[in-house]
This record gives sequence, C-alpha cells and structure tokens, in this order.
Amino acid sequence: MAAPDGRFGTLYNRITRTHVIITAFIVLGLLSFSLLITAIVQAHNRGQNTNTNTDTVIDKNGSCLTQGCISAANYQLRSIDSTASSSICTDFYKYACGGWKQTHFIQSNDVERTIIGDILNRRDADIERLLDAPIPQSNPQSWEYKLKTYYSECIDDYARILDSGKYMIGVLQDPQTIDGWFLFDNSAANASQTSLLKNQSYYTQISHIHGDFGVTALFGIRTKFDETDPSVKRLEFHPAGLTMEINDYVGNDDITQGRQAAYQLYITDVVGILAREAKITDENLTDRAFTIANDAFTIEKLLAESLQRHPTDNKPVVTNLQNMSQAFSFDFAALMGHELADPNVINILTPVYVTNQMYFQDVFGTILANEDPIYLRMVHNYLRWRLLSTYIEDLSYNYVHAHRIFLSAYYGYSLHTTNEAFCAREVIRRFPLAIQRLYTMNSVGHSTLTTVRNIFLALKDGLKQYINEHATWMEDESTKRYAREKIDALTESIGYAHIASDDTLLNNYYAEFEVTDDSHFLNAINYHHFHRWSLSTSLANAGILDHWDLFETRTSRLFDYIASFNRLFVVGSGMHEPLVDSQWPWPMNMGSLGVLLAQKLFASIDGPEGRTHLANGTRFDWWAPQTVLGYNKSRDCITNYYVNDLKHVDIDINGALIRVRLAGEPFSSTTLRHIGALRFAYNALMKDDQMKSFKMPGTYYTSAQTFFLAYAQTQCYQRDGLFEVVRTQLGTYDEQIALNTALIHMPEFAQAFQCTPKQDKCFD
Ligand SMILES: *[C@@H]1O[C@H](CO)[C@@H](O)[C@H](O)[C@H]1NC(C)=O
Ligand SMILES: *[C@@H]1O[C@H](CO)[C@@H](O)[C@H](O)[C@H]1NC(C)=O
Ligand SMILES: *[C@@H]1O[C@H](CO)[C@@H](O)[C@H](O)[C@H]1NC(C)=O
Ligand SMILES: *[C@@H]1O[C@H](CO)[C@@H](O)[C@H](O)[C@H]1NC(C)=O
Ligand SMILES: *[C@@H]1O[C@H](CO)[C@@H](O)[C@H](O)[C@H]1NC(C)=O
Ligand SMILES: *[C@@H]1O[C@H](CO)[C@@H](O)[C@H](O)[C@H]1NC(C)=O
Ligand SMILES: *[C@@H]1O[C@H](CO)[C@@H](O)[C@H](O)[C@H]1NC(C)=O
Repeated sequence: MAAPDGRFGTLYNRITRTHVIITAFIVLGLLSFSLLITAIVQAHNRGQNTNTNTDTVIDKNGSCLTQGCISAANYQLRSIDSTASSSICTDFYKYACGGWKQTHFIQSNDVERTIIGDILNRRDADIERLLDAPIPQSNPQSWEYKLKTYYSECIDDYARILDSGKYMIGVLQDPQTIDGWFLFDNSAANASQTSLLKNQSYYTQISHIHGDFGVTALFGIRTKFDETDPSVKRLEFHPAGLTMEINDYVGNDDITQGRQAAYQLYITDVVGILAREAKITDENLTDRAFTIANDAFTIEKLLAESLQRHPTDNKPVVTNLQNMSQAFSFDFAALMGHELADPNVINILTPVYVTNQMYFQDVFGTILANEDPIYLRMVHNYLRWRLLSTYIEDLSYNYVHAHRIFLSAYYGYSLHTTNEAFCAREVIRRFPLAIQRLYTMNSVGHSTLTTVRNIFLALKDGLKQYINEHATWMEDESTKRYAREKIDALTESIGYAHIASDDTLLNNYYAEFEVTDDSHFLNAINYHHFHRWSLSTSLANAGILDHWDLFETRTSRLFDYIASFNRLFVVGSGMHEPLVDSQWPWPMNMGSLGVLLAQKLFASIDGPEGRTHLANGTRFDWWAPQTVLGYNKSRDCITNYYVNDLKHVDIDINGALIRVRLAGEPFSSTTLRHIGALRFAYNALMKDDQMKSFKMPGTYYTSAQTFFLAYAQTQCYQRDGLFEVVRTQLGTYDEQIALNTALIHMPEFAQAFQCTPKQDKCFD
C-alpha cells in the first residue's frame, strides 16, 4: 500500500492567520484564567481530597471553575470548529472535530491518524525515552537491568558488528545440532551442486531449528485458552512459516511478480553476505545462492497454495500428540523436548489443538513425504533460510540493511525505521510485563485507575438499568434474565497483570531470561530460550498473567471485553488525556472513556460474541427467537437509514471526490452498539450527575452537552482517501458517518442540543 505522504499537507496548511490568532487567544485567556482560579480553588479546598471531581467551584454564571473543568473545557474548545455551530444537529462531528482536523495531520508513512493512535504513539515515544535512561548497575538479575541492557545492546551498532554473522555461522555449523548448510557444505571441491552432501532427518532438522531456536517454519506453536474451560491452556499447532502474504505467492499480477523477484533477490543477497563472512569463495557460490533463494521460495509457495486451497478458520480441532504423531508420521511427542523448557507439562494424551488440519496434511503427508533428493534439498534450504531470516534484524548492519531494502521494494516506498524505534518495538514485544512496570512506575497515577474503576462500576449499573428500563428489542423475559446474570457477573481487570506491579515477582518471572551486555544476537537467542520457558509455564499455570496474555492477542490495544471470561480489560498505561483524567468532571470522563468502555460492555449482550457466551464464559446462544427478531427489526431500520436516507458518501482523493454508495450492512450492528452504549452511559451519568446544576467554562455547556461533545471528540480522525474508500466499500464506515448516525437516532442528544428529534429512533 502506497504511502500518502503529505497528501493532506497542502489542504490543511491553509489555516488562516486570524484563526491561529483566535485560537492562541482563547488558549492564553483560559490559561491565565486558570492560574487565577487555581489559587481560589486551592484556598477553598484546603484539607480536602483534590482528587475527586465532585468538589466544584461555581461562578455567578453557574460555570464550574475547578482545575479539572478548566482543563477539560480547554481541550474541548481546542478541537471544536465554532464556525460550524449551525450544523450541530445535522453534522455534530464537523462541529466537534473541525478544529482538531485542522491541526492534526497524518504522519508520513501512515494512512490515518486517530485519537487512540496518538495515545499509543505518545506512549511508545515515552517508553523509548525511559529505555534510554541509565541502566541500574546494582543488580544484573533485576528486570530493569535486563530490559535496558537488551535495549542498549540492540541499538549498539558496534556490538552488532562484532557479533556479525559469525555467531550465526557458528550456530549453522554446530555438528551437535544443525550441522551445516548446503551453502557451506557443497563448496567442497567437485561437490554436487544439486543434491545434499550431508543428510539429516526432518525430525533432527525441525527439532533444532523449530524447537531449539524458536523458528516458525512450516507451522507454529502457541498456547490458547481451552474453549470450554478458560482456566486451562492448551498447546495449539497452527500454519506458519511464510515471509509474504499468501497472495504474493499465488498471484500473477505485476505487483506480485515484483514482490516475488524482490524476495528472491533478498535471499540471494543475505546468503551472499553470510558466505563471505564464512570465507566461502568457490566459483559455484553464486549458483548455490540462487538455488537457495529458489528453494526457499518454492517451499513457501507450496505452503501458500495449501492455505489457498484450505483457508484457515478459527475452529481448531482437538487431538493429542499421540494421534498427531500417527496421522503425520512425525514424532510430535519427542519434539516437545525441544519446544518446551519443561516437556513434562504435557503428555501424549493431553488434548492439544490443531488449527487447519488440511494444511498439516499437505505439509506432512505431501511435502515432507517426498523423498526426491531435490525435495530434500529444498526443505533443507528453506529451514535454514527461515532460521537466518528469523534473526535477520539481530545481526550486523549489512543484514539489517538488506532486509530494509527488501521491505522497501515490497511495500513500494522506503521505510525510515531508526534503530531506536526498531529496538523499542522489539523490547515492547519481548518484555511486555517489564515495559508495563517501567511505564506505569513513571506515569500512571493511582487516582486514574480509581477513576477508571468508578467508570466501570457506574457502567455496570447503567447496563443493568438499561436492560430493565429500555432494551425493548430484547423482547422476552428469558433473554433478559440471561443478560442480567451476565451483567451481575461482569468483572474488570484494570491496570495490568499482578506480576508487573511488583519488582520481586517480576525479577523471578524473568529469572530464566539471560541478558548479556556483549552480544545482541545472543540476547535474541536467549529470548527464545525464555519463550520456551514461558510456553511451559503458561501450560502449567494458565492464570499466571491474570489472562492479560489473551488480551494481548487482541487487536484493540487499550481496552477490550473478552466473552470467555466475561471481563473487561483496560490497560493502565493507556489511560491518559484525552480519554480520561481524574481531575476532569464526571460528564467529560463518562463521555470519553466511559462511552468507549460502554461499547465494549455492550458487546457482552449483543452478537456475535456476547450472545453466544454465558455468564461463566461457556458457549451457549442465549438469545430467544423473539429477541433475534426484535434485534433484526432495529438492524433493518438502521440499514434502511443508510441505504435510503444517507445513500452515499463523497470521499476526497487528491482533490477529486469519489462517491461511494452505502449498503448499510454489515455496519448497522455496529451503529446499534454505538447507540446502546451512548444510551446506557448517558443514563449512568444522569443518575449520578454532580454537574446537573452548572456548566462548563468557556463553552457554557450542560453536563449532557459536555458528555456528547466528549464522546464525539474521541472520534476525530484523518485518513488517506483511497484507504477510506476501500474501508467504506468493505462495510466499515468512518467515524463521522458512524457518530452522526448514532446521534441522529438518539432523542437524548436532540434534547441536549434542542434539535428536532427524528421520528423513528430505530433502537431503544
Ligand atoms: C456569563 O455567561 C455569558 C453568556 O452566557 C457570558 O457572555 C459572560 O461573559 C459570562 N460571564 C462570566 C463572568 O463568565
Ligand atoms: C562447480 O560445480 C560443478 C558441478 O555443477 C562441478 O563440476 C565443479 O567441480 C564445481 N566447481 C568447484 C570449484 O567445485
Ligand atoms: C576434481 O575434478 C578434477 C577434474 O575433473 C580433478 O582433477 C580433481 O582431482 C578433482 N578433485 C577432487 C578433490 O576430487
Ligand atoms: C539421503 O537420504 C536419502 C533418503 O533418506 C537417500 O536416498 C540418500 O541416499 C541419502 N544421501 C546420503 C548422501 O546419505
Ligand atoms: C485419537 O485417535 C483415536 C483412534 O483414531 C480416536 O478414537 C480418538 O478419539 C482420538 N483422540 C483424539 C483426542 O483425537
Ligand atoms: C456455566 O453455566 C452453565 C449454565 O449455568 C453450566 O451448564 C455450565 O456447566 C457452566 N460451565 C462451567 C465451566 O462452569
Ligand atoms: C436476522 O438478520 C440476519 C442478518 O440480516 C439474518 O441472517 C437472519 O436470518 C435474521 N433472522 C431472523 C429471524 O429474521
């Protein structure tokens, strides 16, 4: 996908000078105002807990003048476009986010910019800064020493040049394990250039390359919570081992062919660098490098073709190691001695999952069953290439550079990854617990976690009340009973895994992770040893990370509801302005983080996950037929609104407007969720509204108006036009359409802003 560099630049540079001055004026005005007010507030509240947002100061006009109100109002004012106030009732998004859009551009190499994306970027930048801080020398067994040493070794080019490919060559040549490569072995005088000089069984090769060095080749191994019992984890075997996307192997168009050529060139380059370091110089070297490139590509292509014939669905089959060994003529039980630090956590009859059995059939029954010497060589070269490429970014600069050239050719634009950014991403991935500790130690206050917990409790109440007093689409009492049971049993995990809150626990957790200060490559290999330990530990003790490990596999990186635990997860490290602030007034917090969490909680009672899981996480579809009908009626109503009232959306691509028709589906269920969430968060706010009698400074908005504005401003976005067109065609509508549609169907919104309510509200 091409980068939309600067595409929006020219448009948004046209902010007028007057506009800038006015904005600066408002901000300055509010700032000096707030200084004055702070003094008054502090005088008022001496001895009180300044942490709650109930202690309010009100001026003659009824405006709230606490520090929190002023900072919240300030934020809201910065993002709105006050020239669009006439469109509040019809296009609230434009009013709420117009100012934001004029000051927030898409970063180069990104295709969109969002509020949540900004929070994540800011967090990553903070983490990079914290990682750069001095390494504590006192205790080399401490998590902090290991984390920072890993990072500093990673960015230390000099250390990498020393390691270079020599360690890698040592690994490949080790007679006890991998025992050579066609690349080296067949440089012997007069050696065949087509068949292997050294034979090794597939079991030997896979046990070392896949097991000992953690390389995903042919398939991957991970843990997965048991489908029927979330207190147990199972080993899961799944298809893996491709470098590019499936389509890049099986397609025939120009882009695909360009990528295939770039990939093989990359292999040839890297293999050439490695051979030079190994002092291999025979006249057939170049030929062998091409052979290896072709072999690796051919095997990956066979894997891709299998996946094309048998796409992976997410319904794994339960089997065990004994049955797998029989079915695939491969000793999976013995393999565990290499894959897990403690193979005894599993035996040959323990249930395991296999995702996509047909793929495994192809790999073991066809590819590995072929005894043709050419096949033996192809698999041999593929496996060793996967080993080399797994660690490519951990080797010296020549290798890293070759990899970046390949990525640039693959994506069609050059990537500007700095070492710092790459290494920060690397430690975030490899030390998630330590990163949480490092970050939260330095930033997230307890008061924020308390605020988030209070939001959760208010929402839980609000959702129950919603079922009792609204939710007319849930037409029968039996379905409502299930829903109430689920809501009563809802739990939360706010912050992070317990281990990450305690230095001693964390040091113990990383005890098996050896980090040295002289070789990044060794550290990377040691990570894989540690990973084998963490696999067996989590099989033995599924709850060791308080289920945060499941959250981490989700795409949402700040908060999510997981139906199999009936629990809401909120990562402490993401809890910042503009999503939440413990000083802010309640309507502001309920409108921003509150509604976003409410959308997640609504997922506990609607489809597809919520309605198919009971309060205890067991799978069971508890919607009665009347409720299915009632929900469908609302869904059709929203679909009709998209198809008949809105009809289409015009998207700007480089100044040309592209008209995309709205089909309404599959998006309308998302709109229902948005409406439901706004409604019960709103009701939760109104039930305990400490601001009912006063207004926000500057905007003079009531608590209801502040609430809707706060939610709208979590939805501000910029997106590349082409990307937007594709998303819309695929049925994911942009935030502007989604927000306006939800609000137009809410009488609560119409009432708050004195708009004319829509006759048919579709969903209650
Ligand atoms: C009171 O509110 C009005 C608008 O409603 C505004 O013009 C005026 O400046 C406000 N006064 C103070 C002291 O904030
Ligand atoms: C190069 O390979 C050919 C066979 O393909 C072989 O006859 C020749 O001896 C090899 N050259 C060297 C220097 O090994
Ligand atoms: C390689 O082949 C050449 C000519 O065919 C021969 O002279 C030489 O002895 C061979 N070398 C070895 C090690 O077999
Ligand atoms: C390697 O193994 C294959 C089949 O297992 C066999 O046919 C071949 O002769 C062996 N080659 C060597 C050099 O041992
Ligand atoms: C293992 O295979 C046997 C015989 O084919 C079968 O009866 C059994 O159900 C299988 N067990 C599992 C867990 O797949
Ligand atoms: C969950 O609850 C259902 C119904 O109450 C029950 O049938 C099922 O056994 C429970 N599952 C677990 C794992 O406790
Ligand atoms: C409800 O709507 C879905 C999708 O629009 C449809 O597949 C399903 O058959 C409908 N169910 C009923 C009972 O109308």
